[in-house]
Amino acid sequence: MCGGMHYVSYAELVAAVSNAGAIGFLTAVTQPTPEKLREEIRRTRAMTSKPFGVNLSFLPAAKPPDYMSYIRVIIDEGIKVVETAGNNPGKYIEVLKKGGITVIHKCVTVRHAKTALRHGADIISVDGFECAGHPGMDDVGLMLLLPIFRRALPGVPLIASGGIGDGSQLAACIALGAGAVNMGTRFMATKEAPIHSNIKRTLVESDQTQTTLILKTLKNTERVFKNDMALKAQAAERAKPGDIGVIREYIAGSKYRKSFHETGDTTDSVWSCGQVIGIIDDVPSVQELVSRIVGEASSIAQSTLPGAVAARL
Ligand SMILES: Cc1cc2nc3c(=O)[nH]c(=O)nc-3n(C[C@H](O)[C@H](O)[C@H](O)COP(=O)(O)O)c2cc1C
Repeated sequence: MCGGMHYVSYAELVAAVSNAGAIGFLTAVTQPTPEKLREEIRRTRAMTSKPFGVNLSFLPAAKPPDYMSYIRVIIDEGIKVVETAGNNPGKYIEVLKKGGITVIHKCVTVRHAKTALRHGADIISVDGFECAGHPGMDDVGLMLLLPIFRRALPGVPLIASGGIGDGSQLAACIALGAGAVNMGTRFMATKEAPIHSNIKRTLVESDQTQTTLILKTLKNTERVFKNDMALKAQAAERAKPGDIGVIREYIAGSKYRKSFHETGDTTDSVWSCGQVIGIIDDVPSVQELVSRIVGEASSIAQSTLPGAVAARL
């Protein structure tokens, strides 16, 4: 699946992902109003007859969006699956469940997963430290996090998320107990992702060392591209830990929307991407990417793994 990405997950990408046989998620609050989300859902439906979902992220905000109104539109429009993420999703998950929606809750700790399940979440998306977006406070990589979740939550369907970009990782995640994988950054570097080509080129040219973390002192850690603006934000945060006021000017969403959709300048805003940029080498179509990943994973499952077992017998 392609998780919701603020200012990236519009109809074009979501429909392409679903048409390729995976499933895409629109980001609800990228749309300025619930009615604009309704239009985006309808625009996506015009581009695909396949299922797609909507992402709802509950992140700290000076003026939080009216989530319940977005949820009413999601239910009204007949969306069947929602990806939730962020803080205190419980009351929203309960409303979504009453609306007959399958809820995938994305989180980084077993404690948060258990809370979401108690409120009715159906599937847990396990987000490793490698991920773009919000890797949490504990700095644990996906290789370890998946078996930890599997042991703590027997029988709960798991999705592996964070740092995934090729078929060997899909095969590995299935071996580790996941039923699916979630990718964000890898889908940004596709033909259909509706963002500036400079951003895509930067993802291809950069390596796994070129991300960094901000907002940890505000308990809202975010992995971002390591550029001058991110380093300035980090320095401001170091000078006054826990003070959003000193960092706000650097992380303004309006700046990053401008980089993604107008200027293509990769240096003058703080924007998210994951360590998986270390293995992103091209900008294929979504269909080419999904087929390649599934093909690689199938070949590992059918040839490499049976070969390894046979060699041991
Ligand atoms: C530019 C960008 C914006 C994102 N915005 C959101 C968001 O609004 N809500 C959310 O739940 N996840 C968001 N994510 C995280 C993705 O949905 C996904 O969980 C993450 O990218 C997985 O890690 P990966 O990038 O290593 O594949 C974002 C990721 C990126 C790259």
